[in-house]
Amino acid sequence: MGFIDEIKAKAKADKKTIVLPESMDKRTYDAAEKIAKEGIANIVIIGTPEEIAKYGEGYDLTGITVVDPFNDPNKQKYIDKFVELRAKKGVTAEQAQEQMEKDYMYYACLMCKCGDADGVVSGACHSTGNTIRPALQLLKTKPGISSVSGFFLMEVPNCDMGENGLFVFADCAVMPEVDAEKMAEVAALSAESFKSFVGAEPKVALLSFSTKGSAKHDNVTKVQEAVKIAQEKYPDIALDGELQLDAALVPSVAELKAPGSKVAGHANTLVFPSLEAGNIGYKLVQRLAKANAYGPVLQGLSMPVNDLSRGCYADDIVGVVAMTAVQAQQQ
Ligand code: ACO
Repeated sequence: MGFIDEIKAKAKADKKTIVLPESMDKRTYDAAEKIAKEGIANIVIIGTPEEIAKYGEGYDLTGITVVDPFNDPNKQKYIDKFVELRAKKGVTAEQAQEQMEKDYMYYACLMCKCGDADGVVSGACHSTGNTIRPALQLLKTKPGISSVSGFFLMEVPNCDMGENGLFVFADCAVMPEVDAEKMAEVAALSAESFKSFVGAEPKVALLSFSTKGSAKHDNVTKVQEAVKIAQEKYPDIALDGELQLDAALVPSVAELKAPGSKVAGHANTLVFPSLEAGNIGYKLVQRLAKANAYGPVLQGLSMPVNDLSRGCYADDIVGVVAMTAVQAQQQ
């Protein structure tokens, strides 16, 4: 069984309710139909009768709940919650209602916050920033976590590195800049994500263009500090750095560059020093190694919300919904 089939099986074992707010995109209906038929999750689509009729035409919506954001008995509850959550920002009931009607991602997050859904998947026709922002504003981070980051579960074919070709790459999606503290936190969250999705022990490499002091630069110092913070804060995680990518993955290079490291040469969880490196890195592996890249999956949020690539297919949405449902099971 491949990675995503295992995740689907896990999702089916304890069905969660996942909201798809992009009723203006046909892929939403295609995916929802498949998810309902396979029994992966209970699906809620947010849309007006006109949107459903226009974009959902020809799809079988049996078993799928449709919520009309202009005519929903729960709407006042969501407006009140929005105002309560954004009181410090001075959001009024009128502004809350307008935002929810204009941008269904806000509606979906409020359904989660009020206990009417377990997670959200969006981004097939919205940018990452517009997908993530409502979740950051309304759902916030888990207790004790300062920042949300995004990982890709990479499934590399014919690869004997990582966990038989499975890796977590982070942060590839959210934070343009990370300091040492944030990078240490991304390392800990990524270790947890690897364990929960792959089921094996994470071996975390904090990446750089330097291995164990081979180069000197402020960017290298940042990664060295992140390693120190992470090793002190999370002593149970197998974690090392700063490592170049080859030292992290290839045992013979690790022996030369980082002898004695328990992680070098065997890393399965790669933490990048910036969003540029992470985002470019995952796309290189996806395109050149023809890897499956599942994500970006957000980590550190109080409830699961996940983004899609705008080039995604309906099957990609099905996969991300299954991953979101599994995250919801673990909340
Ligand atoms: N973790 C937790 N909270 C955060 C984070 C974070 N990483 N970033 C911002 N926030 C919070 C802020 O504290 C703020 O909360 P508040 O409104 O209660 O005060 C709220 O989110 C909005 O923050 P802003 O600083 O206004 O941030 P902005 O909305 O401008 O940007 C965003 C946040 C959208 C995540 C931005 O950092 C971004 O665009 N990141 C890059 C996304 C991207 O383009 N990724 C690459 C493409 S993904 C791909 O290729 C698959």
